[in-house]
Amino acid sequence: MARSEETKKPSAPAPAARAASASTKKAIIDALNKAYWMEVETTINYIANSINLDGVRAEEIKKSLATDITVEIGHAQTLGRRIHELGGRVQGSMAFAAAQKTLQPPRAATDVKAVIRGVIEAENAAIRQYNETIRLCEGVDYVTQDICVRLLGEEESHCREFLGFLREYERKG
Ligand SMILES: [Fe+2]
Ligand SMILES: [Fe+2]
Repeated sequence: MARSEETKKPSAPAPAARAASASTKKAIIDALNKAYWMEVETTINYIANSINLDGVRAEEIKKSLATDITVEIGHAQTLGRRIHELGGRVQGSMAFAAAQKTLQPPRAATDVKAVIRGVIEAENAAIRQYNETIRLCEGVDYVTQDICVRLLGEEESHCREFLGFLREYERKG
């Protein structure tokens, strides 16, 4: 460490998070649960779409979705661990309610564009959910906030990737 750094005065500590009220804590756990199910549902639909698509043009999309499956499962596990740390409970499949209509595998196995659009919509929904949770945590739970900021960054990069695919497919017609 450089000498000038050693003698540097520590900067003022960041204001400590105030204790979250029981209702805020519950709202944060609920938001994490919602995000958890979104990640699980995304995983289900990425598995299906990464297998069903046919055609040479589908290969890149299938490969990308297959890679993202592991990432999205990791997101669900991260959220589940945080729910547990906050005193919540990770639910089983009977509590699951599906919502991703546009990410259902298309009837035509070569309809790559429909899948790309579905992925973009699912990623945008996750981005909205993480942004909401980040706001909810402000001033009361910096650890959950930090987790959501990291996941938000990953969803933004997924979304960006598929927006690129969409542009390419629209150009090719
Ligand atoms: Fe995710
Ligand atoms: Fe994602």
